[in-house]
Amino acid sequence: MAPIIAIDGPSAAGKGTLARRLAAHFGLPHLDTGLLYRAVGLKAEQTGRPPEEVAAGLEPADLGNPELRTDVAGQAASKVAALPEVRAKLLDFQKKFASQASGAVLDGRDVGTVICPGAPIKLFVTASAEARAERRYRELRAKGVDTIKPRVLAEMAERDRRDSERAAAPLKAAPDAFHLDTSDMDADAAFAAALAFIERKG
Ligand code: C5P
Repeated sequence: MAPIIAIDGPSAAGKGTLARRLAAHFGLPHLDTGLLYRAVGLKAEQTGRPPEEVAAGLEPADLGNPELRTDVAGQAASKVAALPEVRAKLLDFQKKFASQASGAVLDGRDVGTVICPGAPIKLFVTASAEARAERRYRELRAKGVDTIKPRVLAEMAERDRRDSERAAAPLKAAPDAFHLDTSDMDADAAFAAALAFIERKG
């Protein structure tokens, strides 16, 4: 069976860093599925076109937009991600990526539940709201963004709520996912814990 590593969890829990490190370690291609939703959300907002139309015509160049990493794009992503038509349009691309002969690492919100329910390795990465907000706040400050922690915390809570309460593929752990709480871990410790789990699985 091709090794597929499915990683899900809320924002700033450390899943992106973990996914990149596991992909590099195992020599697997990696897809950050959130980037697809960010690209659709931002382009729909900037052009005024319907999100499902944008999702249907998404091009590789759309994924290179430097604005995709901003919180504005994150909020726009979480709004269009609640639309079943948008999710349906992005599903094929994600499934194809996951079915490469080499195997793959995918991270997002519904990788273990919807995109790759049969993945042999599923990780659900979480951290306390306080730890996640602190990380996000530091990241933003390092980028020179002028913000305050209560605002970061409030925006994160809003996005979490929208992602968890939506009807279409809500953020939730697959029943067979390994839960990794990174509240008190740095990136090295999270990587070591994930690797130990994968090695246990054989
Ligand atoms: O992970 P990231 O913060 O880039 O995701 C942005 C938004 O895209 C999330 O808040 C979520 O609403 C949406 N998303 C999703 N399903 C995925 C990945 C991301 O709904 N697999």
